[in-house]
Amino acid sequence: MRFDVITLFPELFAPFVASGVTRRAYESKQVEVVLWNPRDFASGNYRRVDDRPFGGGPGMVMMAEPMSTCLDAALAARPDAASAPVVLFSPIGEVLRHAAVADWATSAGAVLVCGRYEGIDQRFIDQRITHQISLGDFVLSGGEIAAMALLDAVARLQPGVLGDEASHVEDSFNPALDGLLDCPHYTRPEQWRGQGVPAPLMSGHHVQIERWRRDQRLAVTAARRPDLIAAARAANRLSAADEAALQKKL
Ligand SMILES: C[S@@+](CC[C@H](N)C(=O)[O-])C[C@H]1O[C@@H](n2cnc3c(N)ncnc32)[C@H](O)[C@@H]1O
Repeated sequence: MRFDVITLFPELFAPFVASGVTRRAYESKQVEVVLWNPRDFASGNYRRVDDRPFGGGPGMVMMAEPMSTCLDAALAARPDAASAPVVLFSPIGEVLRHAAVADWATSAGAVLVCGRYEGIDQRFIDQRITHQISLGDFVLSGGEIAAMALLDAVARLQPGVLGDEASHVEDSFNPALDGLLDCPHYTRPEQWRGQGVPAPLMSGHHVQIERWRRDQRLAVTAARRPDLIAAARAANRLSAADEAALQKKL
């Protein structure tokens, strides 16, 4: 899988691809990340990539031509040049969720376009962008953090990247656990500042531990994201024991 990232700040990605558990995915090129700077494709002595907005107003707008020439070069370097998705990170995009991450995680990758300033000339977006993704209802200074969020979420779903194969399956939103939120976790010491560990976790009884974890997932999801409980119920993913646990919490 290959992601070509178009960014005015490629240096931001160096520590990102070299750190943490996902480093293995980038180093082995299981998730290949190739960086492209539109400034390298800009003309003139100043290699200008932005200009003032037509109609006036604050800020600068990224120019269509250097972005487009840069995108052409990135696409030409991909085996799937004609069909590769071209993703823009933008507050107007679809908010990123687990289902979309799981789709990207089994794809051939994409070209990821990071905006800066007030954004990119709309004609580039109209003509070249196939998907738009948002990180949420807030504004970042640039698309780089959003690109890293997608890359990180995709990398940790790759086989062999996490130390324990099962660990992402047990994470929040995973369909393997019916899209529920994760349960609380505890580690040593057994007592910390007057607080112990829930008894079922200390019981050594596997069935009891799993039931406790399931009940906790149900309780936290019901409290924080009732929409996810409704979705699990609509998909017939809740057992009679799950429904009884939910009733107890009400
Ligand atoms: C300062 S923002 C531009 C914000 C734009 N003027 C607006 O109000 O929607 C610069 C760039 O950051 C990225 N960005 C900002 N917020 C984002 C979000 N919530 N999700 C994904 N990308 C975002 C986009 O690439 C955007 O072009």
